[in-house]
Amino acid sequence: MPIVDMKGMLEHAYQYGYAVGAFDVVSLDFVTGIMTAAERSRSPVILSLAESHFAHFDFELLMSAVERAAQRATVPVAIHLDHGMSTKSAVQAISLGCNGVMVDASHHPFEENVRLTLGVTGMAHSCGIPVEGELGYVPGVEGEDAEHHPGDLVYTSVSEAKEYVQRTGVDFLAVSIGTVHGRMKGEPSLNYSRLEEINKTLGIPLVLHGGTGLTDEQYSRLINNGISKINYYTALADASGKRVQQNTQSDGQGYTALVDGVAESIADEAERCMHLWGSAGQADNALKNCASWAPVEHLIVYNADANETKVHAMMSEGRRVLSQIPGVRTVFTGNAIQEGAQYRFSWLVRFCHPAVIDSYRDHPDHIAFADNQFRPIAGDRISIDYRAVESGRTHSENSASIRKSA
Ligand code: 13P
Repeated sequence: MPIVDMKGMLEHAYQYGYAVGAFDVVSLDFVTGIMTAAERSRSPVILSLAESHFAHFDFELLMSAVERAAQRATVPVAIHLDHGMSTKSAVQAISLGCNGVMVDASHHPFEENVRLTLGVTGMAHSCGIPVEGELGYVPGVEGEDAEHHPGDLVYTSVSEAKEYVQRTGVDFLAVSIGTVHGRMKGEPSLNYSRLEEINKTLGIPLVLHGGTGLTDEQYSRLINNGISKINYYTALADASGKRVQQNTQSDGQGYTALVDGVAESIADEAERCMHLWGSAGQADNALKNCASWAPVEHLIVYNADANETKVHAMMSEGRRVLSQIPGVRTVFTGNAIQEGAQYRFSWLVRFCHPAVIDSYRDHPDHIAFADNQFRPIAGDRISIDYRAVESGRTHSENSASIRKSA
């Protein structure tokens, strides 16, 4: 069950003065390690997938594992697109199961950032999905991802932040107040007074990028000034790399020998953060505060005034068109198995959230398909929307755990 609404999750953190870790995952070891840490420390958690990392893994395949891990968790989990580059990538991420998206447009001039962000908030909010925007610029090397964040740090301006949030309607704001992505070189120059002012002005959960490498005291002061989500990657990548290097010293040199213990190293580092940032122990309270994430099945059964070839051609076009509408997860079309079935054909369209019932109905591509292709053929029909009663928990006990090596 515990995929939860990320807005409720972060509002709980904001209200009670702790921060949820948004850990970027790049492999199954990361998913396993982070979920193990969250279960062990009873912490809410965000599994993030950064678009800038997509060269390193197959986004669609990893999303299946991420979603399954979140569904079977006993702690609240949200799934986030980190550093999304466009509305198109946000639509794809939502279709694959992300229930929060970030717009990475802060390297553009202010008006362009507002325009690009508005494109994403308009689309995502119509799907019930919260959005993180960024203002100011957090540069630097995100693990092995140097080239995606070049340039110099730009601190977030308080007045621009106010205007940006008002105009775009973002739910969370990533601020630039002195951190950099990746390994910290020298001392960061953190501007707490600016953060305090942004927090007082906006009153919404704030996000810290470049979470790796700060001191306990620095985290604590940032969290006390409104940081409710901390993006964290490089330290996990480094802990994994260190473990692989240690494994090269031992006898076994095959793949499984080299990655042995990587998930455990990630779990240890993520768990340390969860205790440090105050999210450990908050899982049950946060769960009470967050709406659970229940998908909707839009079901249509119908008979057709056309031969089967024509119906199948219409279904095929429908699958192509409808699966691209924001908030649609899957489109199933079917023929009745029983000869004497009252209705011969079906659609089963899965929406990520009840908000999609309206936005799908009103979407121009849906209207055009329904008016020009579906309704002229489908006469007698029934259409009903079903909300999931429970979203997926089938395991009798949590099974997010690391299998210890022999
Ligand atoms: P670090 O790699 O510095 O932890 O930053 C991660 C990040 O901000 C991802 O969005």
